[in-house]
Amino acid sequence: MRKFLKPAVFLLALVPFALLLIRALQNNLGPDPAQELSIETGEWTLRFLLITLALTPLRDFTGRSEFVRQRRMLGLFALFYATVHLLGWMTFILGFRWFAIVEELIERPYITVGFTSYLILFALGITSPKAMVRKLGKNWKRLHRLVYLASVLGVVHLLWILRTDIGEAVLYGSIVFVLLGYRIARKLNTKKSVFG
Ligand code: HEM
Repeated sequence: MRKFLKPAVFLLALVPFALLLIRALQNNLGPDPAQELSIETGEWTLRFLLITLALTPLRDFTGRSEFVRQRRMLGLFALFYATVHLLGWMTFILGFRWFAIVEELIERPYITVGFTSYLILFALGITSPKAMVRKLGKNWKRLHRLVYLASVLGVVHLLWILRTDIGEAVLYGSIVFVLLGYRIARKLNTKKSVFG
């Protein structure tokens, strides 16, 4: 059963992309396809990030380790959706005009924040192979804690798109807050049990 879990999660994580592709091929992305693509891929980036962050608490509460075994793959899916999000914006919104891309990155704070979040996800993605974990040692853990910063920046990016439904941004923000709070409490608890 366990050996089917990874391929099953992999296929499931591809479903939003496949559905989006089908809608695009059917010309069914609504009146503004480029914006719809941005919204969908942006939302899935954030969802995959939050799912990835929820795996450790899930393991702690259920005592089952299967969840954290999917962490690396699901984190890479967050990077995958973020890359489609970035490429979609560069191609369909800005027509790959490098000057406009650089200008937007500098002049639009919500783009700067989104791009910073992307750079963090990228750094985490390229340091995710086992060889890199060994090579970086303790620094790997330190670096990978930045996933919380990437999530907070993702929520700020969402909040800054003023057109967005505020309730949705508050929901994502609250989830990040709870997950980050849990992680800090867990860390303080293990320190106490070591010294106490
Ligand atoms: C790589 C740099 C990024 C760029 C250039 C970018 C750009 C955009 C753009 C143009 C939109 C659509 C705005 C609109 O509807 O007017 C958008 C939406 C969105 N982005 Fe990004 N983004 C980036 C990174 C990220 C990252 C890393 C995340 C998540 C961690 C993210 C999450 C979102 C979400 C959730 C939305 C949907 C907003 C909605 O529901 O209306 N973005 N982004």
